[in-house]
Amino acid sequence: MTPEPFALQHPAAGPYEPLHTFHPRRSPLGRDRTDALDRLWPTLGLAVHDETSWPRTASGSLDAATLFGRSAPLVLEIGPGMGDATATLAAQEPERDVLAVEVHLPGVAGLLLLVERAGLANVRVGYGDALHLVRTGIEPGSLDEVRAFFPDPWPKARHRKRRLIAPDHVRLLVSRLRVGGLLRTATDWPAYAAQMREVLAADPGLELLDEDRAGRPVTAFERKSAAAGRAAVDLRFRRVR
Ligand SMILES: C[S@@+](CC[C@H](N)C(=O)[O-])C[C@H]1O[C@@H](n2cnc3c(N)ncnc32)[C@H](O)[C@@H]1O
Repeated sequence: MTPEPFALQHPAAGPYEPLHTFHPRRSPLGRDRTDALDRLWPTLGLAVHDETSWPRTASGSLDAATLFGRSAPLVLEIGPGMGDATATLAAQEPERDVLAVEVHLPGVAGLLLLVERAGLANVRVGYGDALHLVRTGIEPGSLDEVRAFFPDPWPKARHRKRRLIAPDHVRLLVSRLRVGGLLRTATDWPAYAAQMREVLAADPGLELLDEDRAGRPVTAFERKSAAAGRAAVDLRFRRVR
């Protein structure tokens, strides 16, 4: 049961998000990933743009306790790519639940396969725009951590407004963190690292914790950038108010 492709210009893409943070891409799924979606999507998947399919709380937000079958600190990962770091961290932190949201369907399928292979009970995989989910489905103050490893760098000056770590997106993400929760990111793009430092430090709700990779596994994207000679910068900020 492969999930329906979602519309890029969904009706909820309101004034806060005139531009998307991702490149629309279509890549063939192949047999293994199609099979993974057929088998695993119904129990582990979340159709981000179909609110009617979500378990919901009385106030209409996503009901994470029903989604995961327990109440546990919730981590939101934006753009897990193929999900290797997601699966590794989830295995190391069985006491936390991870909702990983990816717009690229092969990545969704790849992560589902890793979750199955590792027998992880604490990962669910959303298909769609994570910012849409945050805006429409995540209760303020409810996340233990938001992570985005190597968000798309959008290196051309005219595309910079699409970056995930930009003031409006950061304000939105911080509002969904609990006080004390972490916003964690990494990039291999020096100009984006500088923008991240500046934008995150300027948010009144955040304080820099450290610039430590803090056990972050090497991601698929990072492997390629390291091979091209680019070093990663990690940033961990904490919500303080
Ligand atoms: C450069 S890749 C990095 C992938 C992975 N974190 C890694 O380090 O290998 C960025 C990923 O973020 C995804 N992405 C970008 N914007 C997104 C959004 N708003 N919601 C969900 N996924 C998003 C892209 O599809 C892409 O897979």
